Amino acid sequence: AAECIRVVILLALLAISASSPSPANANGSDTDLAALLAFKAQLSDPLGVLARTWTSNVSFCRWAGVACSRRQPRVTALSLPDMALHGSIAPHLGNLSFLSVLNLTNTNLTGSIPADLGGLRRLRYLILSRNSLSNTIPPALGNLSRLVSLDLGHNQLSGQIPPELLLRLHNLGKIVLTRNNLRGQIPSHLFNNTPSLTYIDFGNNSLSGPVPTGLASLTMLEVLSLQLNQLSGPLHQAMYNKSRLQVMALVANNNLTGPIPDNQSFSLPMLRYFGLAQNNFVGQFPPGLASCQYLQKLSLSVNSFVDVVPTWLTKLTQLEALSLGDNDLSGLIPATLSNLSNLNYLDLSRGNLEGEIPPEVGLMQELSYLHLEANNLTGKIPDSLGNLTKLSFLVLATNQLSGPVPTTLGNIASLGILSLLGNNLEGNIDFLSALSNCVQLQDLAISSNFFVGTIPDQGQIPGGGVFSNLTLQSLTGNAGLCGSPSLGFSPCLEKHPSVNRNFLKILLPAIGVAFGALGIFLYVSMRRRHKRKGEVKASTDPSDIICHQLVSHHELSRATNNFSDKNLLGSGSFGKVFKGQLSSGLVVAVKVLDMHQEQAIRSFDAECRVLRMARHRNLIKILNTCSNLDWRALVLEYMPNGSLEALLHHSQGIRHFGFLERLGVMLDVSMAMEYLHHEHYDVVLHCDLKPSNVLFNEDMTAHVADFGIARLLLGDEGSMICASMPGTVGYMAPEYGSYGRASRKSDVFSYGIMLLEVFTRRRPTDAMFVGELSLRQWVHQAFPVNLVHIVDGQLLQSSSSTSSCSLDGRFLVPLFEIGLLCSTSSPDQRMTMGDVVVRLKKIKKEYIEWTREMGRAAR
Ligand SMILES: *[C@@H]1O[C@H](CO)[C@@H](O)[C@H](O)[C@H]1NC(C)=O
Ligand SMILES: *[C@@H]1O[C@H](CO)[C@@H](O)[C@H](O)[C@H]1NC(C)=O
Ligand SMILES: *[C@@H]1O[C@H](CO)[C@@H](O)[C@H](O)[C@H]1NC(C)=O
Ligand SMILES: *[C@@H]1O[C@H](CO)[C@@H](O)[C@H](O)[C@H]1NC(C)=O
Ligand SMILES: *[C@@H]1O[C@H](CO)[C@@H](O)[C@H](O)[C@H]1NC(C)=O
Ligand SMILES: *[C@@H]1O[C@H](CO)[C@@H](O)[C@H](O)[C@H]1NC(C)=O
Ligand SMILES: *[C@@H]1O[C@H](CO)[C@@H](O)[C@H](O)[C@H]1NC(C)=O
Ligand SMILES: *[C@@H]1O[C@H](CO)[C@@H](O)[C@H](O)[C@H]1NC(C)=O
Ligand SMILES: *[C@@H]1O[C@H](CO)[C@@H](O)[C@H](O)[C@H]1NC(C)=O
Ligand SMILES: *[C@@H]1O[C@H](CO)[C@@H](O)[C@H](O)[C@H]1NC(C)=O
Ligand SMILES: *[C@@H]1O[C@H](CO)[C@@H](O)[C@H](O)[C@H]1NC(C)=O
Repeated sequence: AAECIRVVILLALLAISASSPSPANANGSDTDLAALLAFKAQLSDPLGVLARTWTSNVSFCRWAGVACSRRQPRVTALSLPDMALHGSIAPHLGNLSFLSVLNLTNTNLTGSIPADLGGLRRLRYLILSRNSLSNTIPPALGNLSRLVSLDLGHNQLSGQIPPELLLRLHNLGKIVLTRNNLRGQIPSHLFNNTPSLTYIDFGNNSLSGPVPTGLASLTMLEVLSLQLNQLSGPLHQAMYNKSRLQVMALVANNNLTGPIPDNQSFSLPMLRYFGLAQNNFVGQFPPGLASCQYLQKLSLSVNSFVDVVPTWLTKLTQLEALSLGDNDLSGLIPATLSNLSNLNYLDLSRGNLEGEIPPEVGLMQELSYLHLEANNLTGKIPDSLGNLTKLSFLVLATNQLSGPVPTTLGNIASLGILSLLGNNLEGNIDFLSALSNCVQLQDLAISSNFFVGTIPDQGQIPGGGVFSNLTLQSLTGNAGLCGSPSLGFSPCLEKHPSVNRNFLKILLPAIGVAFGALGIFLYVSMRRRHKRKGEVKASTDPSDIICHQLVSHHELSRATNNFSDKNLLGSGSFGKVFKGQLSSGLVVAVKVLDMHQEQAIRSFDAECRVLRMARHRNLIKILNTCSNLDWRALVLEYMPNGSLEALLHHSQGIRHFGFLERLGVMLDVSMAMEYLHHEHYDVVLHCDLKPSNVLFNEDMTAHVADFGIARLLLGDEGSMICASMPGTVGYMAPEYGSYGRASRKSDVFSYGIMLLEVFTRRRPTDAMFVGELSLRQWVHQAFPVNLVHIVDGQLLQSSSSTSSCSLDGRFLVPLFEIGLLCSTSSPDQRMTMGDVVVRLKKIKKEYIEWTREMGRAAR
């Protein structure tokens, strides 16, 4: 093939030189032709565009994408954007000595950027973005002294930014390196010789260290994006004084800090976007912003600002997005905020705002996202919210709002998500019928309020239509449902009333999550809750820091091979879990939440809150978190030895999982639960205890995992009403399944079922358990004399590695007794976790003594 190419080149050379009138130019133009042919030879050109149009019977100056100098046949532009070229860039392009424009954006190129391109002395535009170019950026590009624009964004370039890259690029106006894998510091002198720079985008890399001070002297700067990196430290004060700056995007670096100068030195008159979210800025929101009359987007959320909602915001009449959430926000929501008539996105969540939601909010006609959750707002939900005809996301959850839900909400046809959970709202839940006009509604969360009304808690699962694709997952938690044996629900008896069809009709438009909504629906709490959360934000609490030590999206993406399927450990209702290796070398599990479900946000918050407070040998640890507007992940300890579920039901290793080992696991789990129920500062309810949530580390120590729906039990009474999506069919206590009433005793129930499962190796959902016969019933019938018939046969064959004797029935009786006592239908008769621990320890001690004796007797 190489021979062929050489022959073709030779023939082509002959053809061109024969037709070329000016011998003076023959030399250079021959070189250009050879370079183009060499370039073509390294591309596979799957659509044959080059094969068809780059032919020897036409002068190369007329080839597709090639432009020549007007005076001589020398290539001045090679521009083939968006064409599938496939292949690598031939170094020969470096011989196109008249080249001024090289535009190969989005052409499926791979391999390195050849250092030879550094020889293109006349090059003004070098555009190689949106390819899969890899390796480092060649320092020789720093020789391109005429370069005006350098765009290498959206590739897989790695390594550091070469310190000499911009050394001689005195004319550079634009540089884009976004979305690569660049790491290390930005060289401190990088911008010292580029006075004309107007556009810098280094976003979405892994750059660390300080923001280079050279940026301060760039007076022409219009766009600066360094977002999604790991830069830290303060910005030079001159960064806040730039007469042309329009975009300043520094979000999600995690550790950029202030101080931000006051009014006198703060002057960004052309600013349109100011993004400092997800960093570590402190103090007040910068009042200098008040003079930025063109500001459209202001994103300061997830920092440590301490302030009220500033009244100067109302001067920013062009504002379209305002995000101040997750700071130490206090005071009232100013009614004058409604002057921001262009506002489309408003986030004031996760602060300490008090007072009422001003009715004037209804004047913000463009509003489509409203986040006021997790504050301390009181009073009624204003009727005027119904005027916001473009609203699609409204989240008022976990406040102290009271009174009825205004029926005007039904006017908002665009409403997609409505979350009112965790307030003091009251009245009849008939208001839901007003929502039947909300044809876009996907998720409705109204639990943990004081609504009244009659809802059937038993009923037939409808068939047909959107219900024909039901999966078990979408019905999880609705123990009262019946009539779908294929999904594990028993046939309906005559006495079952059917689910109120009118209510279902309301929810039918909500396809996709309609079933989630159905779940929520059947769990609307009709009882008063006890005390309020209260732990929403305590920034003085040192344990809070753990949830603020954010790891970047990019780092997690890299650690998990871009969330590849090969790294997938499992997936659940709220998202997926990937294995990953952080740059520190630590192997971790990364739980990525599906942000299309608002439920997942709550699950993230719940898990983060519980795990950051709870420390126990048998609880999985949270190592880090990552969150931004549309993405959240938890970084957890990696458990290399799988789950109890897998070990019991899918493992070859079951023979080595003997009586003593199983006893050890159940003891570990009971100690973790005892800690959560009795020894922890706040009582934590797990709400979804089951074998797949018990994981093993390298030395097979059991760890309780998945606190996605865990609750904090506050107040002195023993139970609470759980929010929308409770646990798993089979492990759920009857009072929890039917009324959503969770308590320590409902966790004990799940524990009891799990114990029975571990020693019988039968799932509670096993096909044999139909009608009246449940796992518990089956064990109960065999108790105490026939237990050997129901215990896992593997345990009888070889009960442990230390003994070849068959398992003595005397250990089975007290053990199964614990399982039965824990899983009785009456919560009052169930044991406490503390008692379980004591009894299991006793059984374990006696068993070990017995095996020793048997060993001695055998000798
Ligand atoms: C190129 O030009 C140089 C002088 O300008 C000459 O010595 C050389 O022979 C030429 N090469 C070819 C291949 O024509
Ligand atoms: C050049 O040759 C190709 C075939 O190799 C032919 O399709 C094309 O029409 C020719 N163009 C001219 C201008 O002769
Ligand atoms: C390169 O091609 C892209 C895509 O067609 C175009 O948007 C861009 O303006 C081009 N840039 C230059 C310098 O030619
Ligand atoms: C062109 O570039 C290639 C590689 O950079 C080199 O090997 C070759 O000698 C150069 N000169 C000509 C006339 O092709
Ligand atoms: C080529 O690139 C385009 C755009 O980035 C992409 O959609 C396509 O999948 C790529 N083709 C191959 C074969 O990689
Ligand atoms: C081009 O750049 C490299 C690296 O910066 C340098 O070593 C080399 O001398 C330069 N070449 C020329 C001709 O200036
Ligand atoms: C960052 O880059 C990665 C891959 O390079 C991409 O998957 C991800 O979506 C990017 N994130 C943002 C916010 O642009
Ligand atoms: C943040 O920066 C401060 C100093 O500016 C440093 O002490 C701290 O360790 C950094 N934190 C992280 C998480 O990088
Ligand atoms: C919320 O407001 C109530 C009464 O207005 C007050 O008692 C309570 O302390 C506030 N809670 C927080 C966390 O600010
Ligand atoms: C907004 O809603 C309120 C209460 O529903 C109503 O009285 C008022 O007329 C509405 N205003 C506009 C401008 O539609
Ligand atoms: C059920 O699922 C199939 C396949 O995913 C899909 O084509 C069909 O439209 C779905 N039916 C309904 C009613 O959603």
